[in-house]
Amino acid sequence: MNKIIFLILQSVLQLASSTSLRVINPNAVVLALEVKDLSSYEVSLHCGEQHELEDIHWERNGESIPKRGNPIIVTIDGLRGGNFTCHKPNGELLNYTLLLVHPVLFPRGGILTQSADREFVTCTAKNYSGHFHCFWKWHRERSERAVVYFSALRNSSVLNCTVDADISGVTCIDMDYCPYSEESRSINLTLLVRNLYRLEEHHRSFLITDIIQPDKVTINKIKDDVFECHPPETWSFPCSFFPLSYEVKVIPNNHNCNFTGNRVDQHETNETHYTVNKRKSYILCARAQDPFTKRAWSDWSYLHQ
Ligand SMILES: *[C@@H]1O[C@H](CO)[C@@H](O)[C@H](O)[C@H]1NC(C)=O
Ligand SMILES: *[C@@H]1O[C@H](CO)[C@@H](O)[C@H](O)[C@H]1NC(C)=O
Ligand SMILES: *[C@@H]1O[C@H](CO)[C@@H](O)[C@H](O)[C@H]1NC(C)=O
Ligand SMILES: *[C@@H]1O[C@H](CO)[C@@H](O)[C@H](O)[C@H]1NC(C)=O
Ligand SMILES: *[C@@H]1O[C@H](CO)[C@@H](O)[C@H](O)[C@H]1NC(C)=O
Ligand SMILES: *[C@@H]1O[C@H](CO)[C@@H](O)[C@H](O)[C@H]1NC(C)=O
Ligand SMILES: *[C@@H]1O[C@H](CO)[C@@H](O)[C@H](O)[C@H]1NC(C)=O
Ligand SMILES: *[C@@H]1O[C@H](CO)[C@@H](O)[C@H](O)[C@H]1NC(C)=O
Repeated sequence: MNKIIFLILQSVLQLASSTSLRVINPNAVVLALEVKDLSSYEVSLHCGEQHELEDIHWERNGESIPKRGNPIIVTIDGLRGGNFTCHKPNGELLNYTLLLVHPVLFPRGGILTQSADREFVTCTAKNYSGHFHCFWKWHRERSERAVVYFSALRNSSVLNCTVDADISGVTCIDMDYCPYSEESRSINLTLLVRNLYRLEEHHRSFLITDIIQPDKVTINKIKDDVFECHPPETWSFPCSFFPLSYEVKVIPNNHNCNFTGNRVDQHETNETHYTVNKRKSYILCARAQDPFTKRAWSDWSYLHQ
């Protein structure tokens, strides 16, 4: 997907004062009509130069439409795009144009849903290797969904990304990322998603250091009431350069690590060893954070005692 050239040809096909047609892939097979209101718009569709002026038949979403020829002008009402296929008179498929409608002034959220921090796309990195993962949540009722386009750029270079198999995330690596020098330019991410023929656009801009979230720590019991936290396997080494700080919590049984209350012992520490004082049965919870960036905590790990 990252090979797809991303062009904005706003001047090529200026349809009306409040719309433009954006070409999303190089063969002009996917187009997005950018609309500012729900009026009707006329769009010119081409079946390819080799079939110019021939008696071409057209279908919209598999149903024949009365327009003949090449090119044709179709009318798009409201937010209804479509998959337009062109055919020889004998019905043979020649080409198609997936025409999406992108309502640029409408609030987003029809296709993806916001997370608790009100973002549509969340990015995290488990370490300072240049790998990161961005993910999103599809709206429950959107069953005709697809990722139309994705890119991550840093300082105009395209980063290597692959869309996850469940199309709910993308895994990227910035091969030029160096954890030992200051990260001066942000990564810019563009995501175009669709449901049926409606397009939604999302952007994020971030530094790797801002999205660091360690994986869960491993807790080992050394002897009675003495425990040791191990950095997650995916954390960067050496520890002297990439330290972790821990939050350790001792909570009553039958609660989860989110529990807060006056029977909870809670400490932040840079030490990996932790001794619990005078308790019968308890749950030991621990999580880790990068002490320099102080961004996201890992999820909790715990041991029942
Ligand atoms: C399909 O149509 C597009 C848009 O006109 C054109 O660029 C492309 O060459 C056509 N492909 C074929 C196989 O005719
Ligand atoms: C549009 O139609 C073409 C030709 O039948 C097909 O290959 C393509 O998968 C269709 N795309 C969508 C999104 O329906
Ligand atoms: C950004 O790219 C330019 C041109 O390729 C290069 O000269 C510059 O050093 C780069 N900056 C960073 C911070 O990588
Ligand atoms: C990345 O995004 C930032 C903030 O949105 C913007 O200022 C910058 O020009 C963008 N850089 C590139 C290369 O697109
Ligand atoms: C991109 O990343 C994938 C998976 O890590 C790897 O297989 C592929 O070789 C990389 N491509 C480039 C151009 O670096
Ligand atoms: C860094 O995290 C990635 C996953 O995001 C993982 O594939 C990689 O092995 C980790 N690097 C180290 C040094 O553990
Ligand atoms: C603890 O809270 C976090 C954030 O609200 C949530 O993601 C997680 O599922 C909760 N854990 C449990 C065990 O309830
Ligand atoms: C842990 O280490 C960090 C960074 O070295 C330091 O800023 C912080 O004060 C330390 N915290 C504790 C509880 O010692």
